[in-house]
Amino acid sequence: MNSFLGLARMRRSVREFESGRLVSREDLLAICEAGRWAPSGANTQPWHFVVVDDPALIAKVTQVFVRQTERLDANVPKFPHVHKKFLANTMAIIVVCGDPRYQAAYPQSEASAELKREYAENSLRIWLVGLGAAVQNIQLAVAAAGLTSSWLSGGGEDTTNRDLQKLLGYPDCLRAVGTIPVGVPEKGIASRYRRPLGQMVHWNKYEPEKFRPDEMVDHYVKEVRQFAMYRGEENVSKWDDADKRLGEWRKAFTSETIERG
Ligand SMILES: Cc1cc2nc3c(=O)[nH]c(=O)nc-3n(C[C@H](O)[C@H](O)[C@H](O)COP(=O)(O)O)c2cc1C
Repeated sequence: MNSFLGLARMRRSVREFESGRLVSREDLLAICEAGRWAPSGANTQPWHFVVVDDPALIAKVTQVFVRQTERLDANVPKFPHVHKKFLANTMAIIVVCGDPRYQAAYPQSEASAELKREYAENSLRIWLVGLGAAVQNIQLAVAAAGLTSSWLSGGGEDTTNRDLQKLLGYPDCLRAVGTIPVGVPEKGIASRYRRPLGQMVHWNKYEPEKFRPDEMVDHYVKEVRQFAMYRGEENVSKWDDADKRLGEWRKAFTSETIERG
């Protein structure tokens, strides 16, 4: 358990890689093998792993993501993101493509329009979380191989998915739900902000004092998110600017229950 926890803690999203490093296909296959063993609804395994290890193609995938970031700059104000040129330095890029047709394999109902909607909506969730499990298994395998990755969901938007599809040749009906660059980190791997464990664990029933009110969530989105995404310190109390960033919610971010102050 300890070694698994160590791996789970060590897995990090890294967006700066050393250039000129290589990875063997054997290692890449072992990483994909971890994805293969992910759980999925009704054991549908609704994924394909398109592994790009040809440097010329890595350069082209990088260009797709550079355009994806430019669209983000133009259309999504204030979202803190990193320019995707870093992808050029990866050893390989694994594009996890989901096959949405498998949603039909999850529980569906024709009993009424409302039930049809209810089950169809849940099918989408079942499909997505299964794909998330595959991406996570791949990320953990990358960390176990002593490498680093990140998890790019940007790329699932229609425009970028179409660009990727044209470049990589996957069928129209598939969708790139996660892109995982694999490489050697340029700097040591830092930690990252995490909420205290006690704030998210509820014993036997939901503990209402742990519920975050809308104002706190709004505060997170507006004032904390851009720092929480990239800071290398797990514990917000240790941030030099904790007072400034957390404001009246400091206590709520750092203790086990949610109180202002
Ligand atoms: C569903 C999902 C989507 C994500 N999308 C992106 C993305 O598009 N670009 C990116 O740089 N990081 C993305 N990330 C990585 C998160 O920003 C990262 O996991 C988070 O900041 C915590 O950092 P850590 O992974 O180093 O622990 C995504 C992570 C998940 C789980």
